[in-house]
Amino acid sequence: MNAIEIKKELGLRAAQLIQSGMIVGLGTGSTAECFIHSLLERVQKEKLTIQAVASSERSAELARAGGVSVLDLNEASHVDITVDGADEIDPEKRLIKGAGGALLREKILASSSRSMLVIADETKLVPHLGKTKLPLEILPYGAAATRRHIEALGHKASWRLSPFSPLRPTFHLPQQSENLFLTDNNNLILDLTFSHPLQNPEELHHELTQIPGVLETGFFFHLAKTILIGRLNGKVDQIS
Ligand code: A5P
Repeated sequence: MNAIEIKKELGLRAAQLIQSGMIVGLGTGSTAECFIHSLLERVQKEKLTIQAVASSERSAELARAGGVSVLDLNEASHVDITVDGADEIDPEKRLIKGAGGALLREKILASSSRSMLVIADETKLVPHLGKTKLPLEILPYGAAATRRHIEALGHKASWRLSPFSPLRPTFHLPQQSENLFLTDNNNLILDLTFSHPLQNPEELHHELTQIPGVLETGFFFHLAKTILIGRLNGKVDQIS
């Protein structure tokens, strides 16, 4: 199976777990989108009646376009299940998320849900977190100072850039001529990279969130209840 087929299979398996009457949390990213597409297919073909809460404007638009009503999280009495992807998964079901820049909303939604189902292909499994990058959502006010604070702790950091998110004139970062990526919350993303695997991600999360201006890290601890891992050979393994 190729990467796209694996994501589709994971999306299909996750969508089969959704029942009529549920309020469903929609994750963000390519695997979560496969889930949304499969879910919309069930809504249309099987007349499944659900409501959704989305972790990004993009996922909300997809759901609305497929005829599903999308609630603001503030209006939802509860969220039965959130289905989302991941960038890294360690043997203790700790995750790194946020390659799509939606980590803050994703974490609030997952934390507000009765359960979180993670769907990811086997390339996301790591012995230790920190293989790729750790995204941080940063408030624009004082962002250059926040970054200096983080770098003073010895971390290697770079602003997430995007040709699609023009730098708003309301704030300015020195030596930043390119376009900065802006989240759905109009915040910045600072990506940290590490030279060694992380031995104590909880300690690092604590250290980073002590810095004013750091709104959230991409670490997800104790949130993933069940994980479906799509294997290259076509099998899907469940970690509960
Ligand atoms: C979005 O901000 C992310 O947390 C995604 O859920 C994560 O990057 C996984 O994305 P893919 O399913 O596209 O790999």
